[in-house]
Amino acid sequence: TYVVTENCINCKYTDCVDVCPVDCFHEGPNFLVIDPEECIDCTLCVAECPAEAIFAEDDVPEDQRRYIQINADLAKAWPVIVEKKDALPDADAWLGKPGKGDLLQR
Ligand code: SF4
Ligand code: F3S
Repeated sequence: TYVVTENCINCKYTDCVDVCPVDCFHEGPNFLVIDPEECIDCTLCVAECPAEAIFAEDDVPEDQRRYIQINADLAKAWPVIVEKKDALPDADAWLGKPGKGDLLQR
C-alpha cells in the first residue's frame, strides 16, 4: 500500500485524489489518508503530490513510520474524497515545514 505522511498536514492539495483509480483517499480536516485495504499500488498519486507526502509503505522514512497505522485507522473514520478541491488556504506557507505532526486534526 501507499501511505500519506506528515507533509500533507495543513496543505491538503488533493491533486492525489484525481488520479487514484480506486478512490481510496479519505479526507479529514487538514490531512488525507489512503485506505490500505483499497490501494492497488498503482503509484500514480506519488508524482501528483506537490508536498511529496506519499510513499510506498516500504519506503516511508524512519521518522514517519507511525503514519502507516494512522492511514489505516483514519481511513476507517473519515469519508472518501473522490474529486480534487482547493488546497487549504495557507497550504503554500505550510509546504515543507518540519514538525507538523502535532497539528494533525482528527
Ligand atoms: Fe490510489 Fe494508486 Fe495512490 Fe494507491 S498508489 S492511493 S491506488 S493512486
Ligand atoms: Fe496531501 Fe499531497 Fe494529496 S498534500 S492531499 S497527499 S496531493
